[in-house]
Amino acid sequence: MSPNILEPDISYIGDDDSEFFRTVHGRSLNALNSRYMLPVDQDEVKRSELHHRLLQFVFNGRNYIGPVKEALQFGQRRRVLDLGTGGGFWAISMADDFPRAEVIGIDLAPIQPRTVPPNCTFELCDLDQGSIPYPDSHFDFIHARSMHTGIHDYPRFLQEIGRLLRPGGLFLLVEPDLIPIADGKPATQHPHGTGPRGWFTLWETYRACLKIQGIDVTVPQRLAELLAEAGVFERIVLQDGNIPVGFWPDDPHLLTAGQLQWMDYELFLPALKPLFLSSGIAEAKVNRIIADAQQDLYYPSLSTSAQLHIVYGSKCL
Ligand SMILES: C[S@@+](CC[C@H](N)C(=O)[O-])C[C@H]1O[C@@H](n2cnc3c(N)ncnc32)[C@H](O)[C@@H]1O
Repeated sequence: MSPNILEPDISYIGDDDSEFFRTVHGRSLNALNSRYMLPVDQDEVKRSELHHRLLQFVFNGRNYIGPVKEALQFGQRRRVLDLGTGGGFWAISMADDFPRAEVIGIDLAPIQPRTVPPNCTFELCDLDQGSIPYPDSHFDFIHARSMHTGIHDYPRFLQEIGRLLRPGGLFLLVEPDLIPIADGKPATQHPHGTGPRGWFTLWETYRACLKIQGIDVTVPQRLAELLAEAGVFERIVLQDGNIPVGFWPDDPHLLTAGQLQWMDYELFLPALKPLFLSSGIAEAKVNRIIADAQQDLYYPSLSTSAQLHIVYGSKCL
């Protein structure tokens, strides 16, 4: 028997879940949302874990910044929602950290482990379609990380987060910027034809392909502004960070972050192939774009980094 979306069915465990995947240019993609074209396979789960470890490292070993502990520690059973949970690493870690809270992770594909803490569950749902099927004011804390590329109407998505949070409930949004940085300057500020061209071209191509899919590539830089425009959030705190890419930092803390980000990107570059090919770029050109970016990743001429936009706050009382 196949699972009902958002109606957990115990018979699902061990069943054939192939209906939730489709193969596109040799990689496994989700079957629920045709805009989100990064793979949902073992390599992407590995990347999801690296991304999780990187963010934990950036947050000094925790899964969050902001007054989350205070919000979840006391009171009756608390509810936490992880939107676009990927491999489910954040949701599982939060369930372990807060055993009295109920943690739900939602994604387009069933790529999460089957063995999870008793207070953690995973559901399948396209968060870019209509309303997210939970009652108003149901959650105490909502987290969404690195998933805006699967949401074409981000303002509506924020309205949904506002609806699902209880008054005073917390949100934490984390989105990496889509414009790379080299030697401290964004690609857009490097004179044309200079800088790590392979690296810059890959990101330009990625942004162009996302635009074709109807994705607003400026969302990461505008998170705080979009939250303010939503009109239902308060105490919005923006904390941007620059994550080094690779092995150039002397500082051991930055070096660890750089290594994790480098490993993430090593998996990310080939993962872009289905999106690029489906956008109509010829295979030889796609291979060249990815190979040139890999050359810049493996043999960097400048110190590259990635900007991370982190915003937290609460729903108005
Ligand atoms: C890059 S991964 C990030 C995973 C995880 N949040 C993390 O930080 O490691 C993005 C995840 O968001 C999911 N996603 C993207 N768009 C979505 C949508 N419209 N509805 C549900 N999940 C979505 C993808 O399936 C993918 O697993």
